[in-house]
Amino acid sequence: MDLVLHHFESGVLTLTLKQKKKKNSLTSAMYAELAQALASAEADAHTKVVLIQGHETIFSAGNDIADFLQQPAAGEDSPVFRFLRGIAAFTKPLIASVCGPAVGVGTTLLLHCDLVYAGDNAAFSMPFVNLGLCPEAGSSLLAVQLMGYQRAAEALLMGEPFLAETALEIGLVSRVLPPTETNAYAQQQARKMAAKPLSSLMETKRLMKAGITPQVLERIKQEGLVFGRMLKEPAAIEAFSAFMEKRKPVFH
Ligand code: COA
Repeated sequence: MDLVLHHFESGVLTLTLKQKKKKNSLTSAMYAELAQALASAEADAHTKVVLIQGHETIFSAGNDIADFLQQPAAGEDSPVFRFLRGIAAFTKPLIASVCGPAVGVGTTLLLHCDLVYAGDNAAFSMPFVNLGLCPEAGSSLLAVQLMGYQRAAEALLMGEPFLAETALEIGLVSRVLPPTETNAYAQQQARKMAAKPLSSLMETKRLMKAGITPQVLERIKQEGLVFGRMLKEPAAIEAFSAFMEKRKPVFH
């Protein structure tokens, strides 16, 4: 339980990623813990809002590449897919507080959050094409819906990072703050929201997401099949070997 810190107060379950040394990259053990926390939060009548946050210098470097190579996601019951389905279908408000790099799933998970607050040091990226992979977490659908096709193409086909100011402009984040204040502000907003009637929060979210969630779940499944296949192909093998050997990849 020390991979992710769980704190419950005033109706808000705060999940803090605690692997700063590894840049909060997500292992399957962390995905399992997050998936379990979301499932418990769904079931617990006292939990009204969930807040996901990292450290003021790093949100998440995405999948933990070493862990990923040792135990690739095997099927729909694997921790990563349980987590992705959990955030995509979560029925209570989900808030994220993001400072520093948010890479891969560090950015794509935000597409499922209802509110995102960012530090002015936040850098978002979905570098799947640089890794010989394809989008995940429903991002091929949600990024297009959020940003429009061309901007999503720039983010997903170029894989280049974009900063907090751009994230604010495209609507990925609701407010940009100094990094030292971001988690506290997100907590304050989460508590303000948690003071409202849970039935209103849940019905409002359900109506806003009506029709979207089944499509997103289906896209997560489709992306997962392609992603799983591409992981075994030469481009991804080269990208991951290069990362482990701390060199630039060479794609043929
Ligand atoms: N998986 C596994 N380990 C990771 C990681 C990841 N995704 N991201 C960072 N780490 C590890 C590094 O290997 C390094 O480990 P070491 O201290 O044992 O050498 C440590 O975390 C610190 O990372 P480093 O790259 O030195 O930090 P930085 O501050 O220079 O850069 C990032 C931070 C997030 C920009 C950079 O680490 C990065 O780009 N990571 C890869 C992200 C990625 O491609 N994710 C997509 C996965 S699908």
